[in-house]
Amino acid sequence: MKNFKGADVLSTNDFTREDIEHVIEVAEKFLPVAFKEKTSNLLENKLMAALFYEPSTRTRLSFEAAMNRLGGRVLTVVGAEYSSLAKGETLWDTGKVIEKYVDVVVMRHPQPGAPHEIAEGADVPVINAGDGSGEHPTQALLDVLTIKKERGKIDGLTVALVGDLKFGRTVHSLSYLLSNYDVKLILVSPEKLKMPQEITGFLKKQKIAYEETEKLEHALQHAQVLYDTRVQKERFADPAEYEKYKHYYVLTRNLIEKYNGKMTILHPLPRVGEIAKDVDDLPGAAYFRQAQNGVAMRMALLALVLGKAA
Ligand code: NCD
Repeated sequence: MKNFKGADVLSTNDFTREDIEHVIEVAEKFLPVAFKEKTSNLLENKLMAALFYEPSTRTRLSFEAAMNRLGGRVLTVVGAEYSSLAKGETLWDTGKVIEKYVDVVVMRHPQPGAPHEIAEGADVPVINAGDGSGEHPTQALLDVLTIKKERGKIDGLTVALVGDLKFGRTVHSLSYLLSNYDVKLILVSPEKLKMPQEITGFLKKQKIAYEETEKLEHALQHAQVLYDTRVQKERFADPAEYEKYKHYYVLTRNLIEKYNGKMTILHPLPRVGEIAKDVDDLPGAAYFRQAQNGVAMRMALLALVLGKAA
């Protein structure tokens, strides 16, 4: 198993099943603290830097909530225009300096690979909170935790990943994680927004059964878990192209009930029209519970990399 103490969390492609289960086990222990039922000062005297160079609500706030509720403290930089990056400083140099100030760095950046660069400079752990259209490992870990909580298991499930599979970073990280389990994947997207070959190649190597389709109905018929995503407007060079795809798939209550009213519906959020409001009351609509699980998962990751989870 990975030695999490001092480790960076940049990608999920090197996570083993043992690693995932260990992180989930730690996260489950933090659920009462995350859900405001218990208090803790496990991370007292630890300081986290949150560097968010792209918009965020859930990820930044849940990391900050996780750190604060474990008794730690947080320094936040939002928007590259207010940091020395705007003066031309390299990410490596930023990493070299920031390690002198804090114990752990959480970074979101529009450029794939940016957190890896800062991690090369910094001796303290760096956690990738989303790098452009690359990956979003902490989201995918909380997604797996949510599937386990909602369905009681991961093995044996058919999971559909729906929407913008090309630019959506959460589905990249989630595919890597799910490839450690006995699952079937249905990849639903418009032809132009298909899952990158790097990921489907990995699935093949791991001998994961997957199919690619444009048909949402196919997923509704066969999957027990449907993971929906927003079309990533900010990654489109041509706004007209985005307009064409933004509501390519819209999940409605009628549509879900027609096929499988008990299906588990996940979404990393924000949703921008791809899940109708009337879906929210279905028992399987788990996306708000999913967001809540994010605090416990981020507590687990912070405690693990800071060597305090034992
Ligand atoms: C996701 C992201 O930032 O990649 N949001 C999140 O972290 N919960 C999904 C998205 O923005 O579409």
